[in-house]
Amino acid sequence: MIDLHCHVLPGIDDGPETIEGSLALARVASAAGTHTIVATPHVSAHYPNDPDTIARLVAELNERLVAEGIAVEVRAGAEIALTSALELPAEQLARLTLGGGRWLLIEPPFTPTASGIDAMLVDIARGGHGVVIAHPERCPAFHRDRTVLEFLVRAGMLTSITAGSLVGRFGGEVRRFALALVRDGLVHNVASDAHGATKRAPGMAEELGEAGLRPLAAWLTEEVPAAVLDGGEVPPPPRGAIEALRPRRSWPWQRR
Ligand SMILES: [Fe+2]
Repeated sequence: MIDLHCHVLPGIDDGPETIEGSLALARVASAAGTHTIVATPHVSAHYPNDPDTIARLVAELNERLVAEGIAVEVRAGAEIALTSALELPAEQLARLTLGGGRWLLIEPPFTPTASGIDAMLVDIARGGHGVVIAHPERCPAFHRDRTVLEFLVRAGMLTSITAGSLVGRFGGEVRRFALALVRDGLVHNVASDAHGATKRAPGMAEELGEAGLRPLAAWLTEEVPAAVLDGGEVPPPPRGAIEALRPRRSWPWQRR
């Protein structure tokens, strides 16, 4: 699996504090079946991280992973707060894409209203970037008005939900919303959003299995993120897999 959203780099956000913590996270991810982790440290007013620091830490961590014999490769990326994405110079934003491709991971605000979110995201996409919306299922604005998210997906944006959301780690409401988004074809990726080996731990397969989404697992955690890292178009989901999740309508005369 490819983990498209993971706070694996040491000491630059609310992820591991030391490189030992990063290695511990990578060990757990590897045991859970992850071969590639995209390092997505926060880039926000609170964590003003820059592409050079991220690249340097990715290189250091990869060196240590090889030395320790941990079969995980780390690629550079970022989780960019929506407001920061609008304020950053274009040249800097272009260097914060996922794996150097064309897609940016954008974190929508956790405010309760959606007013303006759609226009701001469209603005970023107009700059020539693909937009991956981070954990929309945890964003109160999308709970209040799901049509905003539907519009953004129709406009070509991708969504990446957190594996833990599927099994109730953020409460029942987030879980139900996440599953409804998957059933309605509004989810393209599931990532760990891990912050440490035990703090929101890495891994996606177990959660996908528990949520009954195994038929979509390879598409969500391998095929789509591989296309995102390549900077290409995302492949369609396996035929019939999403439809199969929807409850079948049964007419009274069909019931026995
Ligand atoms: Fe995150």
